[in-house]
Amino acid sequence: MNTLGTVMQVKLIDLIGVLSRALDLVSNTLGRHHAHVGCLSARFAGHMGMSAEMQRDVLFAGMLHDAGAIALHISVESLVFEKDLHTHARAGELLFSGCEGFEIIARIIGEHHTPWRVLHQRENAHLAQAAGIVNFADFVDSRLDRSRPYAQQFAHILEAASRESGVMLNPDCVSLFAAMVAEPSMLDVLFEPDKCLHTDTEERLEQMTLNAYEVVGLCGPFAQVIDFRSRFTATHSRGVAVVAQELARHFEFSVEDVHAMYIAGLLHDIGKLAVPNRLLEKSGALEQDEFMTVRDHARVSEYILGDVDGLEQVCEWASSHHERLDGSGYPHGRDRTQLSLGARILQVADVFTAITEDRPYRKGMTGEQVVNVLTGLVGKGALDEDVVAMLRQHMAGINTTRFREQQRAREEFEEFSKAVHGMSPHRTTPAV
Ligand SMILES: [Fe+2]
Ligand SMILES: [Fe+2]
Ligand SMILES: [Fe+2]
Repeated sequence: MNTLGTVMQVKLIDLIGVLSRALDLVSNTLGRHHAHVGCLSARFAGHMGMSAEMQRDVLFAGMLHDAGAIALHISVESLVFEKDLHTHARAGELLFSGCEGFEIIARIIGEHHTPWRVLHQRENAHLAQAAGIVNFADFVDSRLDRSRPYAQQFAHILEAASRESGVMLNPDCVSLFAAMVAEPSMLDVLFEPDKCLHTDTEERLEQMTLNAYEVVGLCGPFAQVIDFRSRFTATHSRGVAVVAQELARHFEFSVEDVHAMYIAGLLHDIGKLAVPNRLLEKSGALEQDEFMTVRDHARVSEYILGDVDGLEQVCEWASSHHERLDGSGYPHGRDRTQLSLGARILQVADVFTAITEDRPYRKGMTGEQVVNVLTGLVGKGALDEDVVAMLRQHMAGINTTRFREQQRAREEFEEFSKAVHGMSPHRTTPAV
């Protein structure tokens, strides 16, 4: 058995941090917006005496609150229209509502732009309070000018918040913020959001860990945020994940490592969140600098996944998906002496999925063409001969699995698009 003997244990907070960090990379002007809103929300919830569970839910909802905007490729800076606000909040709710244990978090995200005058009439007072907190934290952070010292701006933001108190914003939050502004150290979460994750209110979180199976459950929405951004690749990560998983099985990886391979497939392109949408959707050839920006996504995937205890294996496999055995790949130009079997599997799974999947502008390749391309890449010394041989041996089964999985993912994408705002998933221009 090709077992690496690893048992995956990942802290829940670290895993949420992965997506939160990725979301913040979507735009330079965002800074650490998701981290700020999460930490600020948790601090508000603590001061308002909410239960430890609710503080945790508010923290996570804040860390993920605009995921729907990213998946819909609504530019986050342009979230000013009521329709967009409602749409991306609802999209975020849909992304996470199917995740076990995330039901409340999804609902908070879904209501994070609902005005307080509406929220406070809701039957579920805790949920209304939680959504009001995230809304308020978002209000504060999106008004901060990242280029100026924060402390100088608090009074001005308080003024704006006071005008909306009881209408758009929860008055309890406004009063609390007024007290915090008088004591700016209470707002240190804005300066050191990472430290906030280790304060006493979240101590319990430190002990919440997930096994590989649970990580898989949470990574589904992550893959949707990555894939849904571009209709060209709306099912790509899911396809890569199942192909890589099937190959790992045939190579007799342990159950644990098969899960890790699936996760690596789901997350391999997470760095693409840092690539501007116009480049992902560009129909003509990329300019040299654009090409370099797109290439950077592998390095960004490594950066995002690299810091997480328990995901070392996943990170190594995922971030090597564009490396090639002859050293011609990126981001590091590693060669056959440095690339593990897992990395080689993901490379083959990525190429295989990319050439077989249908894209809006072309049909995927079939049987003979696929074999020719893969054999050609083996001949050039780019892809691993044994992995490609294994794929050829099980081609029919693996390809059927890939096709079904991507069909399911496509249906989910279409349902998501329709449910969010009835837009056609087949439209040809980005909804910016
Ligand atoms: Fe939002
Ligand atoms: Fe936001
Ligand atoms: Fe990639």
